[in-house]
Amino acid sequence: MFVKKLILKNYRNYEDLVFEPERETNLIYGKNGQGKTNIVEAINFFASLRSHRVSKHRDLIKYDEEFASLTLIFENNEREFEAKITLLPDERRKMELNGSKILKNSELIGLFNAVMFSPEDFLIIKEGPSERRRYIDIAISQVKPNYFNTLVEYNKVLKMKNKILKEEGNYSELIDVYNEKLASLGGDIIFYRNKYIEFIKTLTDKLHREITLSLDKFEIKYESCIPVSDRRSMQKEYLKKLNKIKSKEIFGRTSLFGIQREDIGFFINGNRVREFASQGQQRTVILILRLTQAEYIKEIKGEYPVLLLDDILSELDSERRKYLLNEIRNKQVIITSTDKGSFARRKNTKLIHIDNAKIVT
Ligand SMILES: Nc1ncnc2c1ncn2[C@@H]1O[C@H](COP(=O)(O)OP(=O)(O)OP(=O)(O)O)[C@@H](O)[C@H]1O
Ligand SMILES: [Mg+2]
Repeated sequence: MFVKKLILKNYRNYEDLVFEPERETNLIYGKNGQGKTNIVEAINFFASLRSHRVSKHRDLIKYDEEFASLTLIFENNEREFEAKITLLPDERRKMELNGSKILKNSELIGLFNAVMFSPEDFLIIKEGPSERRRYIDIAISQVKPNYFNTLVEYNKVLKMKNKILKEEGNYSELIDVYNEKLASLGGDIIFYRNKYIEFIKTLTDKLHREITLSLDKFEIKYESCIPVSDRRSMQKEYLKKLNKIKSKEIFGRTSLFGIQREDIGFFINGNRVREFASQGQQRTVILILRLTQAEYIKEIKGEYPVLLLDDILSELDSERRKYLLNEIRNKQVIITSTDKGSFARRKNTKLIHIDNAKIVT
């Protein structure tokens, strides 16, 4: 996967930007607040169809402007695509692929793959389970559009069920209909989530040892809402659980069970990282999560995603930095930093200086 060109209009602090990265390492450097992160955020938008920093379009549209548009020309397995997203202040978005309008997110998601390492990643460890579900959901959706569709459908049905639960009246049969749907979709989601975790598990041990040069044991656990088995049995079990708590849900007027409550646990030597690990250990876990996400994409798509490293090298100690820089060889990487550091001497590196929303070199 390669970004050939990014064109921004009225996106964040950019009135007009044309950015053409090289196929290997690209370093975007400049002072604080000039627009470095905005560039990688815009590129990553095409992979996850959201900003990693804000949820409202309004925040992404340049102040006092009526719309923002982002165009990405990229190569996916040697085929060229042009995707365009226009963000409107009323939260609607227009999308085009190779000049034709598209209506659904699912037509775009998965076409462009990127993995972003960002300062916000610490939320995956520190925050509640929803951040960890977001991580896994975006990771899988990027390569399995079916998973994305299933998730969208599940959330739709869950919303309808919750709405009904809030209302007065005799809706018991309707709840049964929703529960059947939720069990069928939920079972599928657990199946995919488990497969993803099983895949990254095969790599984490080795990565952890290589990064930390220690014998500490790193573990990742899928804390699923029902025991993992084959898809059909999971759907049955899911329905059984839903039926069992149905009266409790009606009494409490809210859903109490399902994939919207799952979590992923990270452990070092048996201790939960969120509670016990040092800052450095937490950073290692994040590195592992992002590197394995890239490997998963490579495994399924046959090609590495574009790697976006937003201001994270300065946070790593020299060992971890060296490790990461070695890992990203022979892939397209776009790095942001406030200074050029040792990159000025690195081979195959393009330096891009950003000053007040303009490329100046
Ligand atoms: N909707 C918007 N309209 C105009 N400008 C915006 C908008 N949103 C953010 N900005 C501006 O964009 C700039 C921040 O850009 P960005 O986060 O890319 O900076 P950066 O170069 O990564 O800085 P740092 O080195 O501090 O991380 C800020 O000056 C901010 O005021
Ligand atoms: Mg930044």
